[in-house]
Amino acid sequence: MHPDALIITDVSPRDGLQNQAVHVPTEAKIELVRLLAAAGLTSVEVTSFVSPAAVPQMADAAEVMAGVQRVAPQLRASVLVPNLKGLARAMSAGAHEVAVVLSATETMNQRNINMGLATATAVCEETLRAARKAGLATRAYIAVAIECPFEGLVGSTEVVALCERMLAAGAQEIVIADTIGAAAPAQVTRLLRDLAGTLPLGQTAMHLHDTRGFGVANAWAAIEAGIRRLDASAGAIGGCPFAPGAAGNVATEDLVLLARQSGLHTHIDPDGLRAVVEFAEVQLKRPLGGRSMGWHRSGKSAARS
Ligand code: COA
Ligand code: ZN
Repeated sequence: MHPDALIITDVSPRDGLQNQAVHVPTEAKIELVRLLAAAGLTSVEVTSFVSPAAVPQMADAAEVMAGVQRVAPQLRASVLVPNLKGLARAMSAGAHEVAVVLSATETMNQRNINMGLATATAVCEETLRAARKAGLATRAYIAVAIECPFEGLVGSTEVVALCERMLAAGAQEIVIADTIGAAAPAQVTRLLRDLAGTLPLGQTAMHLHDTRGFGVANAWAAIEAGIRRLDASAGAIGGCPFAPGAAGNVATEDLVLLARQSGLHTHIDPDGLRAVVEFAEVQLKRPLGGRSMGWHRSGKSAARS
């Protein structure tokens, strides 16, 4: 990867929508992904094959996946799967890339996927192994990697151990997630330093939420540590329904502007991104946008490019 390239995986169709009170029609989800691809996003987490009883908004995962293949066939379209059943459903729907989700604490795993840490680790391992055997690309989230809403601060020793297990089971990318947006930049720096001996930088992504306004600062800390893969969500929508206090993801548009002013390239078109946010606003019936939305709406991107 070119050192000046910043790869953003937009997770708005999954993390962004899973927690929304408004039901979003399948066609609108597909259109959201099409607009993201049109804006220049090359990597999008498009849906999750989880229990529809747990997350009703994701019940149409197979239809979304089929639509994405129709409207954005070139896209690196990842899907979240919590277990082998999710993997089987994802593969039947034609997915080429899956992400498993392992939380770093006992309680968060219980609340999120109804398993303790040991079982969740084993289930993620078997899912990763099966996915790799089938030739799929794989990501593994380590959720609540810095702070858990139930158990408080998380030690890096635990996170390092879980990363090692996920890498050994076949994870090609590890996604270090500040699920509730509780981290400050110094904590990101410290965790990434502690992970340095375990995790190759090129295989590491950071997934941030902007609950306390530290999202972009945390992204910058990750960039300074050498990370070039970041998750984000257009319009800053997002949040885990099972993690109290979690606000939206760091906004894709904020990272695009950060990159632009820092000499990094995302190849994402600010005007295209604005169109994504405006579409999402119509769907969710409320104003959206990261902290840089004023800049995006001001037309300055055209004047400067
Ligand atoms: N997709 C669809 N259905 C699934 C499934 C999947 N991936 N995994 C299990 N199920 C079904 C089972 O077949 C079973 O159905 P039945 O009642 O008709 O027989 C039912 O769900 C219960 O199965 P069980 O294995 O006992 O699961 P559970 O109730 O303990 O739930 C999870 C475990 C992981 C399926 C559920 O907690 C989940 O989907 N969590 C996702 C949470 C999430 O998306 N969080 C946000 C992203 S991090
Ligand atoms: Zn998230």
